[in-house]
Amino acid sequence: MDGSALPINADAAPNNLEPFWMPFTWNRHFKKDPLLLASAEGMYYRTVEGKEVLDGTAGLWCCNAGHRREPIVRAVQETVEHLDYAPTFQLGHPLPFELASRLSAMVPGDYDHVAFCNSGSEAVDSALKIALAYHRVRGDSARTRLIGRERGYHGTGFGGISVGGIVKNRMFFGPLLNGVDHLRSTHDPERNSYSRGEPEHGAEFADELERLCALHDPSTIAAVIVEPVAGSTGVLIPPKGYLQRLREICDKHGILLIFDEVITGFGRLGTGFATEYFGVQPDIITCAKGLTNGVVPMGAVICRKGIYDSFMEWADETGQTIELFHGYTYSGHPVAAAAGLATLGLYQQEGLFQRAAELAPYWEEAVHGLKGTRHVIDLRNLGLIAGIELESRPGKVGQRAYEAFRKAFEAGLLIRVTADIIALSPPLIVEKPEIDRMFQTLRDVLEALD
Ligand SMILES: Cc1ncc(COP(=O)(O)O)c(C=O)c1O
Repeated sequence: MDGSALPINADAAPNNLEPFWMPFTWNRHFKKDPLLLASAEGMYYRTVEGKEVLDGTAGLWCCNAGHRREPIVRAVQETVEHLDYAPTFQLGHPLPFELASRLSAMVPGDYDHVAFCNSGSEAVDSALKIALAYHRVRGDSARTRLIGRERGYHGTGFGGISVGGIVKNRMFFGPLLNGVDHLRSTHDPERNSYSRGEPEHGAEFADELERLCALHDPSTIAAVIVEPVAGSTGVLIPPKGYLQRLREICDKHGILLIFDEVITGFGRLGTGFATEYFGVQPDIITCAKGLTNGVVPMGAVICRKGIYDSFMEWADETGQTIELFHGYTYSGHPVAAAAGLATLGLYQQEGLFQRAAELAPYWEEAVHGLKGTRHVIDLRNLGLIAGIELESRPGKVGQRAYEAFRKAFEAGLLIRVTADIIALSPPLIVEKPEIDRMFQTLRDVLEALD
């Protein structure tokens, strides 16, 4: 196929912006004043007008190795040329087997099986279903409750929004899943604002799980799901000891602990996964985004030893030929799996997780250098993540940060905003002068903003 067969020119603005109902977007405003990206390379996007934009957000927390990396592009091209699609229901092809081996080996501890899907949302729904079914196949079928956390983000499937705690993501969609309860969020600005790294105060917020256990009886609780670092709600770093405490309480009551590592996976904190950074081992890890460097959609559910085995034992005892009634047409898609393998290879060859760890102190200084900048009321950081909280305009939550997003883009910097919080999460290939530029641009934008 030559280029002329392509239906559109990806470098040119489309004639009609209307039909695409854009996700999580102020569609009306966007379509009057669009921001259209045409290409990307390394740390930079280029717009359809040819303007260069420094990527402060790794796309949407996914392009951890930077953009258009040759080994990944080549792996995708070569794979699609010889195997465009293959089912993985009662059939297989080599790539997801290899990727599952590499992924489970990447996580320290006894993780031994991986299920694949196509996004973070699907990874979360899959993990919740696996947790519920795990208890059932072991004969512990009263364990049907799921516990999430206020301000949690676990994607937009019904499972994810049920255990999630972002009000606008839930309030339009009815009663959601039954039997879900929530821990309080760990945000405690009174005691923890301007913390560097993990906040000192708030490990005791995990004790709320004991309260929920007393309320519901622990024998009814299947799983607790949290983001080790809450990202989409505006970067909330767990207080020191909080995740350890959650683990202890889950262990005490036979509850599965799920870490949603969709943003913390693949080097964001300077380790492969947050579980390694915090030294806390959940039973199930969900991931996506950085798994393929954002190149092809893919998600994964990584399970600790014993989970898969329980399904095998149940199937042997009951004579089932399928052990888990769950999966997707594209679970382990060859092109996604090839992108995943090339991505993991690149992370390793370039030592990108280590690089992120080495840059983290410089990053922390740069983040906290914004203290005193106009409108800033809190600064938070961990690994290569920053949360910059702005004071909201009275009655207009989110407006100031949205304007900052637009102004920063004009000034050649891509940032991400949620309500009035700016989140930064650059590709792990970022250089120190680019970090300086990000924070200088942000300072100028904020100082000039009403
Ligand atoms: C922690 C977490 N879980 C799940 C998701 C959902 O991922 P996706 O948008 O790929 O469905 C996200 C997306 O940002 C996330 O941050």
